[in-house]
Amino acid sequence: MTNIQNNFAAGLLAAILLASTAAYAGESADAIKQRIGNGDPAAGMTGSQLCQGCHGEVGLSVEDLIPNLAGQYADYIAKQLRNFQSGARTHQIMSAMSKTISDAELIDIAAYYASQNKMQGNGKGDNPVGKNLFLNGDAGRNIPPCMSCHGVNGKGQAPNIATYPVIGGQHKAYLRAQLQHWRSGERSNSPDGVMNKVAKTLTDAEIEALTDYLSGL
Ligand code: HEC
Ligand code: HEC
Repeated sequence: MTNIQNNFAAGLLAAILLASTAAYAGESADAIKQRIGNGDPAAGMTGSQLCQGCHGEVGLSVEDLIPNLAGQYADYIAKQLRNFQSGARTHQIMSAMSKTISDAELIDIAAYYASQNKMQGNGKGDNPVGKNLFLNGDAGRNIPPCMSCHGVNGKGQAPNIATYPVIGGQHKAYLRAQLQHWRSGERSNSPDGVMNKVAKTLTDAEIEALTDYLSGL
């Protein structure tokens, strides 16, 4: 194909990808635009070949410890990849994988996964202890409501903020591991250590309840 045909094909593909992005109920066009960011989803689809074996073709992984990326904010995905590259966040596989891509590739891959339908849980998000903590926090222990940052049903806060990740509908085992890591300090890359403070006093039973609730949303 000539370059012009190539560009046309890429443009068409991007348009199809965008058109097929189902809005999460109540998500505005501005919010979707911010979710996807400035990258090129079509280029990102190609660039993400080596990620798809683990994270899935459309960002839905089958392994419970590998996070879904479908409909996650591009800004958040990009930040995590840069954090893996710099060592601010560490994980044996991802520290290595992140170093195989350039910053331009990383932005396109983030846009590709962000342009997919938002991850959805199994619909069983009915754990009352988890729901209460998510909606109300625990003022006595300085735990703010998770919802105030992660949004209704944990589906995020765009168009206001696109670096608070989608956590509703994420895999339970992955969420559990992250909350344990925030609590122990093994993961410490959140702005002003906010997630370390949030998770500091969570008990194992509360983490279990929260992840039960969140993975069902
Ligand atoms: C061999 C499997 C594997 C491959 C290949 C892989 N990943 Fe991952 N990825 C993981 C695992 C496991 C985690 C969870 C890390 C943790 O527990 O901290 C992860 C985490 C992530 C996260 C953090 C998500 C979040 O919610 O914070 C991003 C972003 C990510 N991967 C992107 C990529 C991209 C982009 C590629 C391709 C360049 C890629 N991964 C390739 C296994 C993989
Ligand atoms: C003040 C805002 C704020 C509050 C309140 C908050 N979070 Fe977060 N959370 C964040 C931010 C910001 C990040 C992303 C950190 C980063 O950039 O790595 C995050 C990340 C996470 C992650 C990791 C997601 C992933 O894909 O790796 C989990 C899990 C999480 N939060 C759960 C919770 C739970 C459960 C609560 C309530 C008990 C909560 N958060 C309350 C701001 C908040």
